[in-house]
Amino acid sequence: MNIGILVHSKTGNTLSVVKLLEERLRKNGHTVSIERIVPDNEDQPDKSKVMLVSAPSASKFDSIILAGPVHGFSPTPAIVKWIEGSGDLSGRNIPLVITQQLPFPFMGGNRTVRKLTELLQTQGATVPVSSIVNWGSGKRQMLTDNAVNKVSEYLK
Ligand SMILES: Cc1cc2nc3c(=O)[nH]c(=O)nc-3n(C[C@H](O)[C@H](O)[C@H](O)COP(=O)(O)O)c2cc1C
Repeated sequence: MNIGILVHSKTGNTLSVVKLLEERLRKNGHTVSIERIVPDNEDQPDKSKVMLVSAPSASKFDSIILAGPVHGFSPTPAIVKWIEGSGDLSGRNIPLVITQQLPFPFMGGNRTVRKLTELLQTQGATVPVSSIVNWGSGKRQMLTDNAVNKVSEYLK
């Protein structure tokens, strides 16, 4: 399968997780590309004032994975903008990989997954699996492994 991992990563944490996922998916025989979602201003919290300078297209991939951090207990403006401008995602099953600093998913990660799932549903997509890596948790390595295992198993 030709898989696109579309990632917004301001400081590199989410990118480092999806690089491990990329490696695993390749081992499993897939063709994989990581493509960055990049806003014109990483520090702008107001979505209406954000433009994307890189908005990769989903259409060339058989499957896509969306990945990004939690900002203010929410998805980042860049990811939201990408989904809103993504065109037709109908029928797509899109796994999510989320990272956050705080140690437990109820501290913004779960809410972010919920918001992204709702937004993707408005574009006709569903979220079959999601994983949250809590960067500030003592279990970061285990959570990273879990995320890689969960998403790669789903795409087997
Ligand atoms: C503006 C901003 C807001 C943030 N808000 C939260 C938050 O609400 N909860 C949390 O756990 N982490 C929060 N973080 C931390 C990031 O989610 C965390 O460091 C993440 O792993 C960064 O991923 P990245 O390196 O891929 O950008 C925030 C970071 C930034 C820059």
